[in-house]
Amino acid sequence: MPKYLEVLEKAALFEGVPIIRKETQTFLRFLLTCHKPKRILEVGAAVGFSAIFMSEYMPSDCTITTIEKVEMRLQKARKNIKEASKSAKITLLEGDALVLLKELAGKEEKAYDFIFMDAAKAQYMNFLPEIMRLLCPGGLLITDNVLQDGTVAQSRFGVTRRDRTIHTRMREYLYTLTHMEELETAVVPVGDGVTVSTKKA
Ligand SMILES: C[S@@+](CC[C@H](N)C(=O)[O-])C[C@H]1O[C@@H](n2cnc3c(N)ncnc32)[C@H](O)[C@@H]1O
Repeated sequence: MPKYLEVLEKAALFEGVPIIRKETQTFLRFLLTCHKPKRILEVGAAVGFSAIFMSEYMPSDCTITTIEKVEMRLQKARKNIKEASKSAKITLLEGDALVLLKELAGKEEKAYDFIFMDAAKAQYMNFLPEIMRLLCPGGLLITDNVLQDGTVAQSRFGVTRRDRTIHTRMREYLYTLTHMEELETAVVPVGDGVTVSTKKA
């Protein structure tokens, strides 16, 4: 990984920003190398680390659109993207993903061949209909943090009451991904758990 990304990673971790783990970085890099996407959509930019990371390993003619809604993070993401000289490659959309995904799906149906979902886990189910509209046949949908360090595999009585809603929603999301006719999905125990789905032609 280039030095400037290491610096960015350290700063994000120091500030407590939840960015993709090392193992997830390796896995994303592998998928980008295999799949060679042309248009990437990311839901959950935070301070831009994963978008900038992906931009280093995607093909030279590929572009990234990434979405973030928290103003403090947006400010840092804008600055980080500019300082990494990635403004021509990465478009930062500012606002709530549900609203923005609906707008995008209205004008860019099937435009993305690589979608990385890394936002509020409880909302993944709500994002899915628009994500399906935006993903092209043969495209990949990658979702991070699906196993919640293994707790998703436990009975709901094994998790604290506080975590139950997210536990229920994530199980529903996983069930949906693995049972949807249009998708072929693998649940991969990398990092915090990642799913890789491909949209059947
Ligand atoms: C895990 S962090 C993303 C980390 C980033 N992908 C990385 O690895 O560098 C999730 C981000 O999603 C954002 N987020 C959560 N729900 C959102 C929503 N509905 N719309 C837009 N952004 C959202 C949060 O503010 C947070 O910054």
